[in-house]
Amino acid sequence: MKLNIALLPGDGIGPEIVDQAVKVTDAVCAKFGHTPLYTAALTGASAIDKVGDPYPEETHQACMDSDAVLFGAIGDPRFDNDPAAKVRPETGLLAMRNKLGLYANIRPVMCFPSLVHKSPLREALIEGVDFVVIRELTGGIYFGRPQGRTEDMNTAYDTCVYHRYEVERIAKLAFGFAMERDKKLCLVDKANVLATSRLWREVVQGMAAGYPDVSVEYMFVDNAAMQMIQHPKRFDVVVTENMFGDILTDEASVITGSLGLLPSASVGLHTSVFEPIHGSYPKAAGKNIANPLAAVLSAAMMFEYAFQLEQEAAMIRKAVESSFDAGVVTEDIDSTRASKTSQVGDWLADYIENH
Ligand code: IPM
Ligand code: MG
Repeated sequence: MKLNIALLPGDGIGPEIVDQAVKVTDAVCAKFGHTPLYTAALTGASAIDKVGDPYPEETHQACMDSDAVLFGAIGDPRFDNDPAAKVRPETGLLAMRNKLGLYANIRPVMCFPSLVHKSPLREALIEGVDFVVIRELTGGIYFGRPQGRTEDMNTAYDTCVYHRYEVERIAKLAFGFAMERDKKLCLVDKANVLATSRLWREVVQGMAAGYPDVSVEYMFVDNAAMQMIQHPKRFDVVVTENMFGDILTDEASVITGSLGLLPSASVGLHTSVFEPIHGSYPKAAGKNIANPLAAVLSAAMMFEYAFQLEQEAAMIRKAVESSFDAGVVTEDIDSTRASKTSQVGDWLADYIENH
């Protein structure tokens, strides 16, 4: 099978970790007889520097013309502390999500058996944790208009907007996931305060009758933030709006032991994008120390979701589990005998070649 993959490494550690995802993809393709064809494209601060636009039209075309996008990270401290910056790297990520219609971001959270002791949470709490957060990705306060400042610059505003169809399509996807899993769906919202959350609740309540096998639970986001740390095993499928999903998944990464481990798939109307949930980690950029596994596991999700190649995905996951057992991990997991980013990638590719 020919796999047309757009590579958008982006900023900070993005290029280093995408390199490892490519190594692993190449190894899997060699093993299973596929031909990967890569098209590299600019995004983020590096695209601003080169062409003045964090998501140039050429990059969008490359994404549209590919079967899948492997994305690294976006963000640069040069922009973070400059409230007056006219263009920001993150705008590129949002433009990509918007133009590709990526309304659902699938973020699996699981506890890797060989890493249970790495989590700051007690083993008994997190052993066997396995849930998935379905984060809405193209609506809510990230995209609502108006957004801005008054002329005197003393007042700022963002707008949270959701339309019924946006909630319906992601709820449908979430119910589908629940049907395939343990048939438990939890809607996280703030329906006691927000009108948008009340729309979410109304829509999900209305759809629940169509899925009699799924038990549906409704939880306020503040409570969910606590439950996710205190009783993470109670969750199966969590569906939530854009910003709540952003915050809760960073929190959830604590369960796995490192933010550097969580992959995601963004799916919707056009080409799907596979991206780590973490950011560009500028302090580690170029040092060959970042954990490449979120990117590598995102590549596994790519095989599964973009190409329906389950065995290939399983092979990558098996290689990752084995790397934990072999102690081949970056410094975020083990600071005393850490491997470099590229060494982890090489080890994984080698494992795949030989198993
Ligand atoms: C994420 C990131 C992005 C987001 C940032 C970089 C804009 O935190 O993918 O979770 O908030 O969506
Ligand atoms: Mg985030």
